[in-house]
Amino acid sequence: MSAPIELTFVTSAPTVEDLPPSRAEVAIIGRSNVGKSSLLNALANRKGLAKVSSTPGRTQLLNFFQVDGTDASVVDLPGFGYAKTSASNRQAWLDRMGDYLLDREPLVVALLLVDGEIGPAKLDLQMLEWLRECDIPFQVVATKHDKVKSSKRQRRKRDLAEGCAVAPNEVIWTSAEKKVGLERLRAYVREALGVA
Ligand code: GTP
Ligand code: MG
Repeated sequence: MSAPIELTFVTSAPTVEDLPPSRAEVAIIGRSNVGKSSLLNALANRKGLAKVSSTPGRTQLLNFFQVDGTDASVVDLPGFGYAKTSASNRQAWLDRMGDYLLDREPLVVALLLVDGEIGPAKLDLQMLEWLRECDIPFQVVATKHDKVKSSKRQRRKRDLAEGCAVAPNEVIWTSAEKKVGLERLRAYVREALGVA
């Protein structure tokens, strides 16, 4: 198992303007409850670093984590598509997310988390389309690998990739729960951030 990425929580920012400076940043995006905060904790091997909640929509701010001893960062973003939110909340979320992804200069890549158990949802596909339209670099990361029965994995891997219109081996499959795929994801994040 590769060494964890040492992260320190710095601040929760309401808007992109409130974020601290960074040289290079990886963002974690995806639908509410897909496992963004859990995966961040798994990357750092620190259970309580980012708040994990069984109540979707818990993370409402841009949570900024610094990679220890570097000027690079990881940001845990609020989940999109939280069903119980009001229309005005949803619009506020869209604006904040759009501002972040379009305006955040140090952003090198957005990790788009897709629930491995259920595959890409309509909102994931809309997000993918938008990321492609806007030329925002992204990497598809499937979560909850442990929830897919081993007999169904091969097919699910193929279907999820096809649904996202990427090659199967381009998708990084992970389980925060069972610590699957962390080596590959950590290496990918380190490479993207240019940190050892
Ligand atoms: P929001 O902040 O609300 O957008 O959610 P999130 O994307 O940060 O999801 P979070 O990490 O809070 O996880 C949501 C739920 O999924 C929690 O109940 C987690 O325990 C569960 N979960 C996350 N990752 C995994 C995984 O790899 N396997 C399993 N079985 N459950 C997971
Ligand atoms: Mg979260």
